[in-house]
Amino acid sequence: MRPLIISLVQSINGSFAQDGWSTGVSTDTDFRHFLALRRRASALVIDRPTALNRQLPVINAPGKALEHTPVHVLTESDPAPLAAQLSELGVDYRATRFTPESVAEVIASLDTRADTSAGEELIVCESGPHLGFRLLESYPGAELQLSVSPRYIHTATSHFCQLRTEIELRLIEARAEDDQVFLRYRRA
Ligand SMILES: NC(=O)c1ccc[n+]([C@@H]2O[C@H](COP(=O)([O-])OP(=O)(O)OC[C@H]3O[C@@H](n4cnc5c(N)ncnc54)[C@H](OP(=O)(O)O)[C@@H]3O)[C@@H](O)[C@H]2O)c1
Repeated sequence: MRPLIISLVQSINGSFAQDGWSTGVSTDTDFRHFLALRRRASALVIDRPTALNRQLPVINAPGKALEHTPVHVLTESDPAPLAAQLSELGVDYRATRFTPESVAEVIASLDTRADTSAGEELIVCESGPHLGFRLLESYPGAELQLSVSPRYIHTATSHFCQLRTEIELRLIEARAEDDQVFLRYRRA
């Protein structure tokens, strides 16, 4: 089974996006880890909204570090119209359908970078929480790398807690016990 890492970042109060973007939730440190993980990937998996968002830079554009990294758009919907939309956008992303039952087979069949085909092939999912959690649910052995930013964020487009404020925090201690993670924070 190919290793699959799902990478997500969230604020301490569970926001995955701010004003529709994950950037507001992330920090410089998180972004550094995100880039390092990206560079280790033999192939990347993204979701439909990410693939079709014209405001995002093309991940594997010619001349960029990831030029030779295949990018796969996994969808539970019909991949044909999606493939047409990707081609219209001119991006080299491949639309692939999956179901919870076929996901292991689908991940096993994804094209990977030529230079990793002899070694371990790491698949990295950079999608939003919807596809990320779908894959976590259905792909055996999927690993979630959850990065928790030392921030409390609540805006009109974030969610859950009703308190609207922003608090910058400093991590004091991270401790794991029986798979439960305890994080100690103080205000920066
Ligand atoms: N914090 C992070 O690490 C992180 C990372 C990436 C993105 N984000 C943010 O997460 C937010 C998205 O959250 P989410 O993943 O839960 O999104 P969502 O909009 O709840 O779910 C996305 C899924 O909805 C389906 N869908 C149904 N109708 C669609 C349509 N018309 N166009 C595109 N997709 C459609 C697609 O699945 P099918 O293709 O299977 O139908 C797609 O994968 C965005 O604000 C994004 O900026 C956060």
